[in-house]
Amino acid sequence: MVKHVVLLTGADGQLGKTIQDLWPESGLAQRYELHPVGRPQLDITSAGEVAETFAKIKPAVVINCSAYTAVDKAESDSENAFLVNQKGPEILSNCCAKSSAKLIHVSTDFVFSGAFDKPITLAQATNPAGVYGASKRAGELAILTQLPDAAVIFRTSWLYSSFNANFVKTMLRLMAERDSLGVVADQRGSPTSTASLAAAIFKAIDKPEVNGLYHWSDAADISWHDFSVAIQDSAISAGLLKRSIPINPIKTSDYPTPAVRPSYSVLDCSDAEVDFALPQFDWRAQLDRVIQKLKDLNE
Ligand SMILES: NC(=O)c1ccc[n+]([C@@H]2O[C@H](COP(=O)([O-])OP(=O)(O)OC[C@H]3O[C@@H](n4cnc5c(N)ncnc54)[C@H](OP(=O)(O)O)[C@@H]3O)[C@@H](O)[C@H]2O)c1
Repeated sequence: MVKHVVLLTGADGQLGKTIQDLWPESGLAQRYELHPVGRPQLDITSAGEVAETFAKIKPAVVINCSAYTAVDKAESDSENAFLVNQKGPEILSNCCAKSSAKLIHVSTDFVFSGAFDKPITLAQATNPAGVYGASKRAGELAILTQLPDAAVIFRTSWLYSSFNANFVKTMLRLMAERDSLGVVADQRGSPTSTASLAAAIFKAIDKPEVNGLYHWSDAADISWHDFSVAIQDSAISAGLLKRSIPINPIKTSDYPTPAVRPSYSVLDCSDAEVDFALPQFDWRAQLDRVIQKLKDLNE
């Protein structure tokens, strides 16, 4: 049987690595061949390189995991943030449109500024507070304009995994090094394991008839402080941390950053749950899985 090619861009990022890791158990490998490319093999901002890759491997599906994700740096590096987060998706969309390929893309809760107190639906107007969010929103629009019937965009939040640098791994390092920690308690959202997002992306490949914008996170409405306490509890239970340290709640104003973070960014994922027949994952169970994986890697 001839397999359809799935081009995975940004393959060296934490989501890209997770998709490669989970691909064998995705149920797709019999019908689709995954073709991962990192930034050194394919720069999505180069129209020439993207066209050449499309001509060579003829993808039926493109999963775009490439992005400019340095939220604070983006505030003083707007040109590059827009180049990768708007121009890149525009180039990919253009090539997908020409070759009838489907694009699966990832966006962010940062397209909202956080002035909400209940889960944010797809109907809510976007209002990014910073350059990163604005560049990601521009990328969404570029895709939806060119591929209204051949793209899925998942807005997600607070991504973490056993790969690369992320909040969970930073917390584990600080918890091992320090005697106490202060963590922001007045921003609420939903941590999302990259494995949960990969599961939704695999569903999107398997259901080519479903297109459009979706919200997808793990099921949670917690603060960064709550998340840190759970990380420590889980790591102690798994034997990854040996002792418990005090984790003190602090205010956003106590920890100033160049980019403004949304104070509330829980996403309403009900449309995705129905259209992809995929219930949201429990955030605590997903955290325990990643902690156990880190423990196994440590041994
Ligand atoms: N991390 C989060 O908390 C979070 C939250 C919400 C949404 N998201 C979205 O989720 C997606 C995946 O995020 P992630 O955490 O996996 O990001 P990540 O780990 O930062 O990975 C992004 C990858 O894109 C690559 N890249 C950057 N510019 C590129 C270019 N011009 N051409 C090709 N590749 C390029 C990066 O390479 P270099 O390292 O060499 O630059 C990196 O390998 C992104 O769309 C992000 O916006 C992330």
